[in-house]
Amino acid sequence: MEMPVFVDKKKDIGMKERIEALMAEIEALSCKSEQEIEEARVRLLGKKGSVTALFEEFRTVAPELKREYGQKLNVLKNTAAAKIEALKEAAAEAPAAGAASFDYTMPGDPVSLGSRHPVSIAREEIVSIFRKFGYDVAEGPEVEDDWHVFEALNFPPEHPAREMQDTFFISDSDNPVLLRTHTSSVQVRAMEKMPLPIRIVCPGRVFRNEAISARAHCIFHQVEGLYIDENVTFADMKQAILLFAREMFGAQSQIRMRPSYFPFTEPSAEIDVSCNICGGKGCNVCKGTGWLEIMGCGMVDPNVLEASGIDSKKYSGFAFGMGVERIAMLKWQVRDLRNYFENDLRFLKEFETSL
Ligand code: DAH
Repeated sequence: MEMPVFVDKKKDIGMKERIEALMAEIEALSCKSEQEIEEARVRLLGKKGSVTALFEEFRTVAPELKREYGQKLNVLKNTAAAKIEALKEAAAEAPAAGAASFDYTMPGDPVSLGSRHPVSIAREEIVSIFRKFGYDVAEGPEVEDDWHVFEALNFPPEHPAREMQDTFFISDSDNPVLLRTHTSSVQVRAMEKMPLPIRIVCPGRVFRNEAISARAHCIFHQVEGLYIDENVTFADMKQAILLFAREMFGAQSQIRMRPSYFPFTEPSAEIDVSCNICGGKGCNVCKGTGWLEIMGCGMVDPNVLEASGIDSKKYSGFAFGMGVERIAMLKWQVRDLRNYFENDLRFLKEFETSL
């Protein structure tokens, strides 16, 4: 007897095709958000999901097809479950998990920029004022020899500034190596090398063996100035410094000179500028005097010119030197020098607008 053909059309209503179609759909699944993935899981594997429905239907499949279709259905179910898992993992890992809801028109988080250090701001302002007056910028080494820091600047051998308390010596041979105590060393180097006339400012770091306090530090910055030509006079110096003070501290500023002494200048003076806080009336910044001390200066001593090979009969000149931290303190009323060296962001951020 011939075996009946058991493909009962009613009981195999295109199940194979539907399994294949569902398989293709599962493989192409690409939802990203957790919510979409969960919806897909319910749609496929939930109680009323399409895979679950196929399993229900499977019960009615003809026995001789059960093996084949059962395998196919199991593969389908496993594939669906694996796909859902993979999508979940990808969603958890992807940094752009919320990409679908990311609003690209939102303003970004502000990037916090660094600001210039007040000492740099002050130094550059000093230098740029003198540049406008026609001065060039010269620089020299921080590690120096005795000649450029003292000897050529007319410091007598027994001068106290050479002593260990003031100067950091690196070697104490007959020709000691030391850290420069002032930028006046650069004027010596300039006079030795540069053609005349010379008109320069020399900004730089200097070092002194001093106890650190609100008013003193072992490292600070200076700007040295030097002008050498024929017939340079004390009046020229006074005018240059007055113009500088007005650019730096305001057009109303006055200066006054007090006689002083430096080995490398004769005559020498110290310059005060009228207090820019009280306008000269007297306040606690100028300690009631109406004046603030800003620099030392003088006519370059003929001995200094000659030591660098310049004919002191033909040439004359003036020099000046100022502390950058001091100028910055006066300009911004900083009361403690240590603020400049501690890198406290609360202090530094106050200068952000001076960029
Ligand atoms: N070198 C001096 C100091 O460090 C500052 C100074 C004073 C420089 C007078 C000069 C000057 O050129 O003429 O205290």
